[in-house]
Amino acid sequence: MKKTILVTGGAGFIGSHVVRRFVIKHPDYLIVNADKLTYAGNLENLADIEKFPNYIFEKTDIVDKKAVVDLFNKYQFDGVIHLAAESHVDRSIDSPDDFVMTNVVGTVNLLNAALASWNSHFAGKLFYHVSTDEVYGTLGKKGSFTEKTPYDPKSPYSASKASSDHFVRAYFNTYKLPIIISNCSNNYGPNQFPEKLIPLMINNIKNNKPLPVYGKGENIRDWLYVEDHAAAIDLIYHKGGIGETYNIGGNNEWKNIDLVRLLCRIMDRKLGRKEGSSEKLITFVKDRPGHDFRYSIDSSKLRNELGWQPSVSFEEGLEKTVDWYLENTRWLENVVSGEYEKYYEKMYLKRG
Ligand code: NAD
Ligand code: TYD
Repeated sequence: MKKTILVTGGAGFIGSHVVRRFVIKHPDYLIVNADKLTYAGNLENLADIEKFPNYIFEKTDIVDKKAVVDLFNKYQFDGVIHLAAESHVDRSIDSPDDFVMTNVVGTVNLLNAALASWNSHFAGKLFYHVSTDEVYGTLGKKGSFTEKTPYDPKSPYSASKASSDHFVRAYFNTYKLPIIISNCSNNYGPNQFPEKLIPLMINNIKNNKPLPVYGKGENIRDWLYVEDHAAAIDLIYHKGGIGETYNIGGNNEWKNIDLVRLLCRIMDRKLGRKEGSSEKLITFVKDRPGHDFRYSIDSSKLRNELGWQPSVSFEEGLEKTVDWYLENTRWLENVVSGEYEKYYEKMYLKRG
């Protein structure tokens, strides 16, 4: 194998698409997926590639310092693509501690292990940190986040990601650890845990359950198909500049309420329901505290310098996503049971 790469959080939504892409596109790389398998980690996401000779899974908690050091000693990684995180804003509002532990302490554990393992022999090595546009805070009606926008995180989730980004940059500045950071807008696509807007709405429409739209549904998100994010990560990993930051986004802003209505129309068509029937499920609920109004990503640096562009239109991506959830009923049933049900009651029934 030419390179051994550690992917953290590879059993999660984006991580599983990154792992699949690297395992298939780079057969000369050994991909080690280290994941704690929290409620959001699901090895079923990788069932199609789990027997590939260049793929290994290691159940690892990145908060466990010794486990992280042992992993580096075992594999002598050439690179790290760090996606493991607690990723849901509502959960971070309810209980921030896990976000500090995994997103901040876990990231520092990985940085320390990489630093010790590479021992100043940095040629060919890379620590790639996957982050979010939410570190920049929130926008009014105009403007977009660039790589130079000052950090201004508003939620415990975004504060923990911002903190991890600062540590990653500090290790570059202080120790010359070769790093790259990318900050991406909201992802959607197959395998996303149905606590996030799009899969939650698809699942609820399917089951004729209320569609909880926070506040008036006026908040705006910039959506990108997950495979386009994975493609950007692949490109940046191989062609990005050391120490650089790249914003990733699809120029695809939607007001939540418009997006939910669009999903209702798509689902009515797919399920053979009378037009307008799913929209009746829309229920406006109490707003998320500190709800960021608008995200919008300026990805011109990535587009101009590395030639990236999204390949999947929103129309096509939503069709694919809805089809995937309708076809993969077993996946959905498995994740919706147990933990998720309890969580659902706690987060939504109380909003009323
Ligand atoms: P996810 O919640 O679907 O998956 C996270 C994965 O990390 C899970 O497999 C989980 O088991 C694992 N994990 C959690 N804690 C761990 C720990 N202590 N040790 C090891 N593994 C642990 O998240 P996602 O949506 O796939 O996001 C992945 C990354 O991309 C995150 O860093 C997130 O901040 C970032 N990101 C997400 C989005 C988005 O829209 N989802 C957008 C931009 C950036
Ligand atoms: P989410 O998918 O949680 O992503 P993020 O908060 O990280 O952007 O939410 C996307 C948007 O949808 C956000 O403005 C909150 C809103 N939202 C709802 O209105 N209802 C819901 O049930 C969920 C989960 C989100």
